Amino acid sequence: MGAKSHMLQSRRLLSAMCSKMAEEAKRLAGFAAVDNHVKNNQALGIGSGSTIVYAVNRLAERVKQEDLHIVCVPTSFQARQLILQNGLVLSDLDRNPELDVAIDGADEVDSDLNLIKGGGGCLTQEKIVAGCAKTFIVIADYRKDSKNFGDQWKKGVPIEVIPMAYVPVAKALASKFGGVADLRMAVSKAGPVVTDNGNFLLDWKFDKLHNWSTVNTAIKMIPGVVDTGLFIGMAEKVYFGMEDGSVSAREKPVH
Ligand code: 5RP
Repeated sequence: MGAKSHMLQSRRLLSAMCSKMAEEAKRLAGFAAVDNHVKNNQALGIGSGSTIVYAVNRLAERVKQEDLHIVCVPTSFQARQLILQNGLVLSDLDRNPELDVAIDGADEVDSDLNLIKGGGGCLTQEKIVAGCAKTFIVIADYRKDSKNFGDQWKKGVPIEVIPMAYVPVAKALASKFGGVADLRMAVSKAGPVVTDNGNFLLDWKFDKLHNWSTVNTAIKMIPGVVDTGLFIGMAEKVYFGMEDGSVSAREKPVH
């Protein structure tokens, strides 16, 4: 085997090991959240993404083993499928506008427990559901743990916009706050990603750190913006699955 193909093979092996470790970390975080926060007779918000899959699997296991009475409100089409596929009771905010706990993933968590969400494009429903919960719990692997936004997550802040407004909103973002906002394009479809709400997504690559609470409010005031992937002061606790097989929990700091 030549030196080049040997290097390629080592790289592939390393990346397979890293992704196996990250999957195990997601599983640990999901299990910890369900084991520590789910009790009988609760209404739960179910987040979206790949980490939540482990939490829902664990939830289904506990519901069966402990005969728990739990209803689940989804944050996306994916979450709805997950609830149904796991044989859990599907509900909605009409029937359960007050949730005991919402559990969801995140793309990045900063030192104040603020979140960037929306990597999977479900931020608007995720924020609505989290906002209806008494306790919002986040689950993530070690790669999401940051001091400042942008330390790990390089794809920017997702922003859901009404389709006709994507150009003016992108321009307004760049002129008011700097950086650049790109229309998120689909991978196995021509054209843009269309959200579960029939809207487009802008990924705003900021070029400096901001007061995220102020910026979040200001972005929401731009006509055409539906919501942002900035979840400020919403998370009570984050469980990080770690590389060494442990779980590290961080709680919202008291200022
Ligand atoms: C989807 C989200 C997800 O929660 C976030 O992207 C994390 O996903 P994953 O668990 O796959 O890393 O906000 O809109």
